[in-house]
Amino acid sequence: MTKLSVNINKVALIRNARGANYPDLVKIARDCEEFGAEGITIHPRPDQRHVRYDDIAPLKEVVTTEFNIEGYPSPDFMELVIKNKPHQCTLVPDLPGALTSDNGWDTITHKNYLRDIVARLQDAGIRVSLFIDPVEDRLYAAKETGTDRIELYTGPFAHQFNISREQAVTSFAEAAVICNKIGLGINAGHDLNLDNLSYFKKHISGLLEVSIGHALICDALYFGLKNTIQMYLKQLE
Ligand code: PXP
Repeated sequence: MTKLSVNINKVALIRNARGANYPDLVKIARDCEEFGAEGITIHPRPDQRHVRYDDIAPLKEVVTTEFNIEGYPSPDFMELVIKNKPHQCTLVPDLPGALTSDNGWDTITHKNYLRDIVARLQDAGIRVSLFIDPVEDRLYAAKETGTDRIELYTGPFAHQFNISREQAVTSFAEAAVICNKIGLGINAGHDLNLDNLSYFKKHISGLLEVSIGHALICDALYFGLKNTIQMYLKQLE
Protein backbone atom coordinates (compact mmCIF):
# COMPACT_ATOMS: atom_id res chain seq x y z
CA MET A 1 0.00 0.00 0.00
CA THR A 2 1.34 3.40 -1.00
CA LYS A 3 -0.36 6.32 0.71
CA LEU A 4 -1.25 9.46 -1.19
CA SER A 5 -0.45 12.59 0.79
CA VAL A 6 -1.79 15.74 -0.85
CA ASN A 7 0.45 18.78 -0.56
CA ILE A 8 -1.87 21.80 -0.20
CA ASN A 9 0.73 24.56 -0.53
CA LYS A 10 -0.59 25.66 -3.93
CA VAL A 11 -4.06 26.15 -2.45
CA ALA A 12 -2.55 28.48 0.16
CA LEU A 13 -0.79 30.37 -2.62
CA ILE A 14 -4.16 31.13 -4.25
CA ARG A 15 -5.68 32.11 -0.91
CA ASN A 16 -2.81 34.48 -0.16
CA ALA A 17 -3.25 36.24 -3.50
CA ARG A 18 -6.35 38.06 -2.23
CA GLY A 19 -5.76 38.35 1.49
CA ALA A 20 -9.05 36.70 2.53
CA ASN A 21 -9.54 33.14 3.77
CA TYR A 22 -10.68 31.79 0.41
CA PRO A 23 -10.15 29.08 -0.51
CA ASP A 24 -10.20 27.91 3.10
CA LEU A 25 -7.19 25.68 3.68
CA VAL A 26 -8.82 23.80 6.55
CA LYS A 27 -11.86 22.96 4.43
CA ILE A 28 -9.66 21.90 1.53
CA ALA A 29 -7.68 19.57 3.82
CA ARG A 30 -10.88 17.99 5.12
CA ASP A 31 -12.29 17.65 1.62
CA CYS A 32 -9.07 16.04 0.35
CA GLU A 33 -9.42 13.45 3.10
CA GLU A 34 -13.09 12.92 2.33
CA PHE A 35 -12.20 12.40 -1.33
CA GLY A 36 -9.68 9.71 -0.40
CA ALA A 37 -6.37 11.38 0.42
CA GLU A 38 -4.48 9.38 3.01
CA GLY A 39 -2.39 12.26 4.22
CA ILE A 40 -2.04 16.04 4.11
CA THR A 41 1.34 17.66 3.55
CA ILE A 42 2.30 21.27 4.11
CA HIS A 43 5.60 23.00 3.54
CA PRO A 44 5.70 26.31 5.40
CA ARG A 45 8.58 28.38 4.11
CA PRO A 46 10.25 31.24 6.02
CA ASP A 47 8.70 33.90 3.72
CA GLN A 48 5.26 32.30 4.32
CA ARG A 49 4.31 32.82 0.69
CA HIS A 50 1.97 29.83 0.74
CA VAL A 51 1.23 27.83 3.90
CA ARG A 52 1.79 30.16 6.85
CA TYR A 53 3.01 29.31 10.30
CA ASP A 54 -0.42 30.18 11.75
CA ASP A 55 -2.08 27.61 9.44
CA ILE A 56 -0.40 24.75 11.25
CA ALA A 57 -2.44 24.57 14.47
CA PRO A 58 -5.91 24.72 12.78
CA LEU A 59 -4.83 22.07 10.29
CA LYS A 60 -3.46 19.84 13.01
CA GLU A 61 -6.85 20.04 14.71
CA VAL A 62 -8.81 18.72 11.71
CA VAL A 63 -6.49 16.37 9.84
CA THR A 64 -7.53 12.82 10.69
CA THR A 65 -5.19 11.02 8.29
CA GLU A 66 -1.43 11.50 8.33
CA PHE A 67 -0.27 15.06 8.87
CA ASN A 68 3.15 15.69 7.35
CA ILE A 69 5.07 18.94 7.75
CA GLU A 70 8.04 19.53 5.47
CA GLY A 71 10.72 22.11 5.87
CA TYR A 72 14.23 23.22 6.68
CA PRO A 73 14.96 22.67 10.38
CA SER A 74 15.54 26.28 11.40
CA PRO A 75 14.97 27.06 15.10
CA ASP A 76 11.53 28.57 14.28
CA PHE A 77 10.51 25.58 12.23
CA MET A 78 11.63 23.09 14.89
CA GLU A 79 9.72 24.95 17.57
CA LEU A 80 6.52 24.95 15.51
CA VAL A 81 6.78 21.30 14.56
CA ILE A 82 7.51 20.13 18.09
CA LYS A 83 4.63 22.24 19.42
CA ASN A 84 2.12 20.94 16.87
CA LYS A 85 3.31 17.33 16.72
CA PRO A 86 2.45 16.17 13.21
CA HIS A 87 2.65 12.43 12.55
CA GLN A 88 5.66 13.01 10.35
CA CYS A 89 8.22 15.71 9.71
CA THR A 90 10.10 15.66 6.40
CA LEU A 91 13.35 17.58 6.60
CA VAL A 92 14.60 19.35 3.47
CA PRO A 93 17.92 21.14 3.00
CA ASP A 94 16.42 24.21 1.25
CA LEU A 95 17.92 27.59 1.97
CA PRO A 96 15.38 30.22 3.10
CA GLY A 97 14.73 31.82 -0.34
CA ALA A 98 14.40 28.54 -2.28
CA LEU A 99 11.66 28.50 -4.92
CA THR A 100 11.14 24.79 -4.40
CA SER A 101 13.13 21.85 -3.04
CA ASP A 102 15.58 20.85 -5.74
CA ASN A 103 18.05 18.56 -4.04
CA GLY A 104 18.29 16.18 -1.14
CA TRP A 105 20.45 16.26 1.98
CA ASP A 106 24.13 15.53 1.85
CA THR A 107 23.74 13.12 4.74
CA ILE A 108 27.46 12.40 4.85
CA THR A 109 28.58 15.98 5.45
CA HIS A 110 25.62 16.79 7.71
CA LYS A 111 25.33 13.49 9.53
CA ASN A 112 25.97 14.77 13.05
CA TYR A 113 23.73 17.81 12.59
CA LEU A 114 20.91 15.63 11.28
CA ARG A 115 21.36 13.03 14.00
CA ASP A 116 20.67 15.70 16.62
CA ILE A 117 17.64 17.14 14.78
CA VAL A 118 16.18 13.69 14.10
CA ALA A 119 16.52 12.73 17.77
CA ARG A 120 14.79 15.93 18.92
CA LEU A 121 11.82 15.27 16.68
CA GLN A 122 11.61 11.61 17.59
CA ASP A 123 11.79 12.47 21.30
CA ALA A 124 8.65 14.56 20.67
CA GLY A 125 6.94 11.50 19.19
CA ILE A 126 7.26 12.61 15.56
CA ARG A 127 8.31 10.24 12.78
CA VAL A 128 11.14 11.69 10.70
CA SER A 129 11.83 11.47 6.99
CA LEU A 130 14.87 12.96 5.21
CA PHE A 131 14.54 14.31 1.67
CA ILE A 132 17.35 12.67 -0.27
CA ASP A 133 18.71 11.84 -3.72
CA PRO A 134 19.05 8.15 -4.58
CA VAL A 135 22.77 7.94 -3.84
CA GLU A 136 24.02 4.78 -2.14
CA ASP A 137 26.47 6.35 0.35
CA ARG A 138 23.92 8.97 1.35
CA LEU A 139 21.34 6.29 2.08
CA TYR A 140 23.72 4.47 4.41
CA ALA A 141 24.60 7.76 6.07
CA ALA A 142 20.89 8.58 6.39
CA LYS A 143 20.41 5.33 8.27
CA GLU A 144 23.12 6.42 10.70
CA THR A 145 21.25 9.63 11.51
CA GLY A 146 18.51 7.48 13.05
CA THR A 147 15.80 8.72 10.65
CA ASP A 148 12.75 6.50 10.27
CA ARG A 149 12.27 7.13 6.58
CA ILE A 150 13.72 8.89 3.58
CA GLU A 151 11.80 10.78 0.92
CA LEU A 152 13.33 10.18 -2.49
CA TYR A 153 13.59 13.43 -4.44
CA THR A 154 11.85 12.44 -7.67
CA GLY A 155 12.43 15.66 -9.66
CA PRO A 156 15.24 14.11 -11.76
CA PHE A 157 13.09 11.00 -12.37
CA ALA A 158 10.22 13.14 -13.63
CA HIS A 159 12.47 15.23 -15.85
CA GLN A 160 14.04 12.19 -17.51
CA PHE A 161 10.82 10.19 -17.69
CA ASN A 162 9.84 11.35 -21.17
CA ILE A 163 13.30 10.67 -22.57
CA SER A 164 13.85 7.19 -21.12
CA ARG A 165 11.64 5.92 -18.36
CA GLU A 166 13.84 2.88 -17.79
CA GLN A 167 16.92 5.02 -17.23
CA ALA A 168 14.92 7.53 -15.21
CA VAL A 169 13.85 4.98 -12.64
CA THR A 170 17.02 2.87 -12.35
CA SER A 171 18.80 4.73 -9.53
CA PHE A 172 15.51 5.00 -7.60
CA ALA A 173 14.80 1.28 -7.91
CA GLU A 174 18.35 0.53 -6.72
CA ALA A 175 17.95 2.94 -3.81
CA ALA A 176 14.73 1.20 -2.80
CA VAL A 177 16.52 -2.15 -2.65
CA ILE A 178 19.12 -0.64 -0.29
CA CYS A 179 16.48 1.05 1.88
CA ASN A 180 14.54 -2.19 2.22
CA LYS A 181 17.76 -4.01 3.12
CA ILE A 182 18.87 -1.56 5.84
CA GLY A 183 15.42 -0.81 7.22
CA LEU A 184 14.68 2.71 6.01
CA GLY A 185 11.05 3.44 5.13
CA ILE A 186 10.58 4.90 1.65
CA ASN A 187 8.55 7.99 0.76
CA ALA A 188 8.86 9.90 -2.49
CA GLY A 189 7.91 13.24 -3.90
CA HIS A 190 8.41 16.10 -6.33
CA ASP A 191 7.08 16.42 -9.86
CA LEU A 192 5.11 13.19 -9.67
CA ASN A 193 2.01 13.33 -11.85
CA LEU A 194 -0.65 11.27 -13.58
CA ASP A 195 1.78 10.26 -16.35
CA ASN A 196 4.72 9.07 -14.30
CA LEU A 197 3.25 7.95 -10.97
CA SER A 198 2.17 4.39 -11.72
CA TYR A 199 5.46 3.61 -13.46
CA PHE A 200 7.40 4.91 -10.47
CA LYS A 201 5.26 2.99 -8.02
CA LYS A 202 5.66 -0.25 -10.04
CA HIS A 203 9.45 -0.07 -9.83
CA ILE A 204 9.91 1.00 -6.23
CA SER A 205 9.37 -1.87 -3.88
CA GLY A 206 8.18 -0.88 -0.44
CA LEU A 207 7.04 2.61 -1.44
CA LEU A 208 5.10 3.76 1.63
CA GLU A 209 3.97 7.23 0.65
CA VAL A 210 4.02 9.81 -2.11
CA SER A 211 3.46 13.49 -1.48
CA ILE A 212 2.08 15.35 -4.46
CA GLY A 213 1.14 18.99 -4.80
CA HIS A 214 1.76 20.97 -7.95
CA ALA A 215 0.51 18.55 -10.60
CA LEU A 216 -2.43 17.39 -8.52
CA ILE A 217 -3.72 20.90 -7.89
CA CYS A 218 -3.19 21.78 -11.58
CA ASP A 219 -5.13 18.66 -12.62
CA ALA A 220 -7.91 19.63 -10.21
CA LEU A 221 -8.52 22.77 -12.33
CA TYR A 222 -9.63 20.47 -15.15
CA PHE A 223 -11.07 17.44 -13.36
CA GLY A 224 -12.15 18.82 -9.99
CA LEU A 225 -10.53 17.92 -6.68
CA LYS A 226 -12.57 14.80 -5.99
CA ASN A 227 -12.02 13.24 -9.43
CA THR A 228 -8.37 14.18 -9.38
CA ILE A 229 -7.67 12.56 -6.04
CA GLN A 230 -9.47 9.43 -7.22
CA MET A 231 -7.37 9.42 -10.39
CA TYR A 232 -4.14 9.62 -8.40
CA LEU A 233 -5.29 6.87 -6.07
CA LYS A 234 -5.99 4.69 -9.08
CA GLN A 235 -2.38 5.13 -10.23
CA LEU A 236 -1.24 3.75 -6.89
CA GLU A 237 -3.41 0.63 -6.95
N1 PXP B 1 8.43 16.82 -1.35
C1 PXP B 1 9.08 17.96 -1.02
C2 PXP B 1 10.18 17.88 -0.04
C3 PXP B 1 8.69 19.19 -1.56
O1 PXP B 1 9.35 20.31 -1.24
C4 PXP B 1 7.61 19.22 -2.45
C5 PXP B 1 7.15 20.53 -3.01
O2 PXP B 1 6.71 21.35 -1.98
C6 PXP B 1 6.97 18.01 -2.77
C7 PXP B 1 7.41 16.83 -2.21
C8 PXP B 1 5.82 17.96 -3.73
O3 PXP B 1 6.27 18.29 -5.02
P1 PXP B 1 5.22 18.67 -6.14
O4 PXP B 1 4.54 19.94 -5.72
O5 PXP B 1 6.06 18.82 -7.38
O6 PXP B 1 4.26 17.52 -6.25
